[in-house]
Amino acid sequence: MTDFSATKQLFALPEGVTYLDGNSLGPLPIAAQDRMASCLRDEWGDMLITGWNKAGWMDQPRILGDRIGKLIGAATGSTVVGDTLSIKVYQALASALEMRPDRRVILSDNGNFPTDLYMAEGLVRSLGQGHRIETPAPEDVAASITSIGDDLAVLMLTEVDYRTGRRHDMAALIRAAHDVGALVIWDLAHSAGAFAVDVTGTNADLAVGCTYKYLNGGPGAPAFIYVAPRLADQVQPALSGWLGHDAPFAFDPDYRPGTGIDRMRVGTPPVLQMAALEAALDIWDQVDMDALRAQSVKLCEQFIMGVEATCSHLAPDLTLASPRDAAMRGSQVSFRFEHGYAAMQALIARGVIGDFRAPDIMRFGFTPLYIDEGDVDRAVETLTDIMANRLWDRPEYHTRSAVT
Ligand SMILES: Cc1ncc(COP(=O)(O)O)c(C=O)c1O
Repeated sequence: MTDFSATKQLFALPEGVTYLDGNSLGPLPIAAQDRMASCLRDEWGDMLITGWNKAGWMDQPRILGDRIGKLIGAATGSTVVGDTLSIKVYQALASALEMRPDRRVILSDNGNFPTDLYMAEGLVRSLGQGHRIETPAPEDVAASITSIGDDLAVLMLTEVDYRTGRRHDMAALIRAAHDVGALVIWDLAHSAGAFAVDVTGTNADLAVGCTYKYLNGGPGAPAFIYVAPRLADQVQPALSGWLGHDAPFAFDPDYRPGTGIDRMRVGTPPVLQMAALEAALDIWDQVDMDALRAQSVKLCEQFIMGVEATCSHLAPDLTLASPRDAAMRGSQVSFRFEHGYAAMQALIARGVIGDFRAPDIMRFGFTPLYIDEGDVDRAVETLTDIMANRLWDRPEYHTRSAVT
């Protein structure tokens, strides 16, 4: 079991704030402040370039990768940290396509996060080999796998839809994709740290994810990539950077991929960001993932029932966008509302922070590490007040910021 009232104490949450946006950017772990200060002062400051050896900076991508690996069911030595998620998506897709040279279809869905699809488009253009990307509705992915059949090279899905929170049945989709001989890339951006993931048990081929959402690594924290051990030495990295080389400090003019997951490294790792991530991951050492999931479902249900009980008659067009069945949801709840952007600004002004995704989605992330039942009650009460008094109608809530 996990004591979530104790984990809440490990985060620096501002007074008076109910933070329901950890599905977008996790809050600051208190210990990250000292860890980063020490990395700056004792490592960069005192050790200068010797920090690469003395402070172990060069090994951190693998060490942190293995710690994340534990949360996603990965074997030791199959996960590495570095770069951003967009880069890792590109890297995974390029490698997967190279392993299926006679096939031409990349299958995703139209709810995938745009960068995943943009990276795929860019890669297809550079390859110039006639690949095509298909994006059916999420609920039609299984049928598409069957209809594309042996031309399917890669199934590339984000498990949890960033807008609606709808969750794919990844185990079943991986089986179906493997049945037609395709590879699967699983984007865990909204899964890692949201619930238990099992890349080994589900037989995933490659997985990628970010560490700044549920894992709380901080803004700009590095991404991670997992390659199934059975594929590790077949993967040919398209982003063949020097730190993925078998012997980076031999400065060989020709690229020779490193062993196993090391070849998925690209360039210099972000040492300061990794220091924050290291402190954030310490918290996960005391978390039982089944308890986390049970509590997440409880909080999400409380929010849905609370909002529907108090707001529905005040604002009939505020409707649940997430699946009602908890088994089909990640750890977020979304509501559709025509004036969603303004309503979210009104919430934020009252200390309840969620976010908005165009055209009309209000998103609320439920993260048991630092959100409890009292926070959910407060969010419901605040939203009820906004709907009852049409506070979203105030002009100051209608000016759009760059980040929504
Ligand atoms: C599913 C998914 N993929 C990728 C990204 C963004 O990638 P990057 O970290 O490169 O900005 C996000 C950001 O929210 C996301 O939700």
